[in-house]
Amino acid sequence: MTEKTIKSANRVKDLGEVFTPKKIVNLMLNQPEITAKINDLHATFLEPSAGEGAFLVELLKRKLNVAKAQSKNVKEMQNNFLLALSTLYGIELMEDNVEMLVMNMSNAFQQIYYHTFDLQDQDIRVIKSANVIISANMAQGNALTHKTDTGDPIVFSEWKPVSRGKVQRTEYTFDSIIENGESIGAVQPEYEQMDLFADPEEDTSESQAKEYLPCKWEDIYKRKIK
Ligand SMILES: C[S@@+](CC[C@H](N)C(=O)[O-])C[C@H]1O[C@@H](n2cnc3c(N)ncnc32)[C@H](O)[C@@H]1O
Repeated sequence: MTEKTIKSANRVKDLGEVFTPKKIVNLMLNQPEITAKINDLHATFLEPSAGEGAFLVELLKRKLNVAKAQSKNVKEMQNNFLLALSTLYGIELMEDNVEMLVMNMSNAFQQIYYHTFDLQDQDIRVIKSANVIISANMAQGNALTHKTDTGDPIVFSEWKPVSRGKVQRTEYTFDSIIENGESIGAVQPEYEQMDLFADPEEDTSESQAKEYLPCKWEDIYKRKIK
């Protein structure tokens, strides 16, 4: 089947919208520096013009393979599946592309999840939590202005593994990540560096806003606030 890389001539003209064919995606992701990052389950990727996910979906598939290889038991593998997913971020301007992006990420995750785990180990909470991560990490917005269609700032969540197999979710504006670089501002009270652009020395705490409770990876879907 031929791959559809163009939706319309106008969209190519107005948005530069040409989707990357699988073969090129694979060639690019096979670069040794990229492979090294894929093999690091904590390394983050941001695709600022994500389209329907040509790169992010393939990155997800590869990272889930790494999660499989690096996990010692079912529980660790379930957590590592969600960790791997949580490191992938995208921004896309067009709403219809964002819908496809979210759907493609979700389908890829579920397909591999159900193929990997035996029936008795499958946990619907993992799928629900995966979908929350995907919705948070795949942002509709303009990567140049850092704003969404409604004029609000693009916000991303950091998913930081903390003790006892738990995860701490913290939200940051994309503006603060990009503009401050070394000292990113947060929309949440406690802010720490995202892996993406991290300076491990920096640690600041202020502001009053909702703060997510640390939780088990499979409970992310509950979105519990302090
Ligand atoms: C050349 S396509 C590449 C899509 C995808 N990365 C791929 O390889 O298939 C560029 C994409 O960027 C989106 N785009 C254009 N301007 C943008 C902007 N300012 N912010 C975010 N996305 C944008 C377009 O809608 C389009 O989906």
